[in-house]
Amino acid sequence: MEKIHSLTGMMDLVGKKAGKSEMSNRIFFTEKVLRNIFENYCLSEIRTPALEDENLFKRSVGDSSDIVNKELYSFLDKNDKRIVLRPEGTAGVIRSIIEKKIDGDTHRLWYLGPMWRYERPQKGRFRQFYQAGIEILGYEEGLAELEMISLICSINKQLEIKNPVIKINHLGNKECKKLFCKELVDYLKPFSSKLDKKDLERLDGNPLRILDSKNPETQNILNEAPKISDYLPKDSLDLLDLTKDTFSNDCNIEIDHTLVRGLDYYTGFVFEATSSDLGAQDAYLGGGRYDELCSQLGGKNLPAIGMAIGIERLASIANANEINKTLVSFIILSSKIEQKAYKIAHDLRSVNKSLNLDIQLSEGSLKSKLRRANKDNASYALIIGEEELKSNTVIVKSLLDKNSEQSNMTLNELHDFMKSIV
Ligand code: HAM
Repeated sequence: MEKIHSLTGMMDLVGKKAGKSEMSNRIFFTEKVLRNIFENYCLSEIRTPALEDENLFKRSVGDSSDIVNKELYSFLDKNDKRIVLRPEGTAGVIRSIIEKKIDGDTHRLWYLGPMWRYERPQKGRFRQFYQAGIEILGYEEGLAELEMISLICSINKQLEIKNPVIKINHLGNKECKKLFCKELVDYLKPFSSKLDKKDLERLDGNPLRILDSKNPETQNILNEAPKISDYLPKDSLDLLDLTKDTFSNDCNIEIDHTLVRGLDYYTGFVFEATSSDLGAQDAYLGGGRYDELCSQLGGKNLPAIGMAIGIERLASIANANEINKTLVSFIILSSKIEQKAYKIAHDLRSVNKSLNLDIQLSEGSLKSKLRRANKDNASYALIIGEEELKSNTVIVKSLLDKNSEQSNMTLNELHDFMKSIV
């Protein structure tokens, strides 16, 4: 029979008990830390469907973006409706807020889930990947920008990210963007023959994106090009300076006027966080202000700012050495007493929340179960057989000190002992 494989660029994530360096474990750990940070920042969770109407992304992320133009997972459903697997989370969140008619209110939201982009898989770039996103809705430019950078600093600190750089820029208002784009196109047109196909497409569709070109020849040409900083209003430049000043003691933050982002909905402050430890795909998060998206999708004028974190990229550079909870391995010696012994283990689990209790469910000898407890880095083995059950006792064996004697404890003594373990 032909083997069935997972699809290109899509990973299975399978947790392993003693595999701290395994990618899956790093991802699960990173998600846990992020959830905690989101709670600390008083954000509320939102979950939107993975499948959406294709038009949602055409009207938000934009027809001229690579994400919509080339990378959408799109298909017709049984009703001939064009459906896509969401490539990002922001558009779905705004659709949901408009649909629930709460686009006049303020919201501070987070989400976590899979996204899909039909890209060429490589290190740090997958076709199915996970994003944790934050969207702060209903707040004008100002403190919400600072809240974004504050969140990034907390993420960097708690996950001990090495060599992080936060890049910030401002795309100005509509008028200055229009004027700058015109000047940029006028400057670049005479170099058309030297631009590659991708940059020529950008010149027509979204000239700002050329600033982000990876082509060294284009970057050479751009050296003498008009600079967006010369067109930005004072307010925008002031916001960049204020943001840099506020956080420069806490993190490595740079104003980078070439940062433009690859999605069409951004209107003002934009940012990315990168680390040189990631290699070519060095951005582990990105975001910005998108004040026009809600009205573009048929809602009210709702100022908004947000960001999304690439979980695989962040997890690959995070310090995932979780402060280990003490592991206790519970070994039942006879299948005849399984149920009663299980009840004892069940009760023990509520005694001390900082302990993990692993009931060894498989058949096997005491020797093999102790071997497994050692392999899992358990600190103690609790052993119970028919004799112990009759006398309401449990054998306690320390696995930390191989020379220590095992002892018999009554259930009350065991509860006290479990409580005392830090
Ligand atoms: P984005 O820059 O397209 O922004 O994606 C955010 C992050 O997702 C990237 O910095 C990267 O870490 C990760 N990422 C993107 N594509 C892939 C891929 N193929 N494989 C692995 N990781 C990837 C957005 O998605 C916006 N929705 C962010 C936002 C929220 N702006 C405002 N609110």
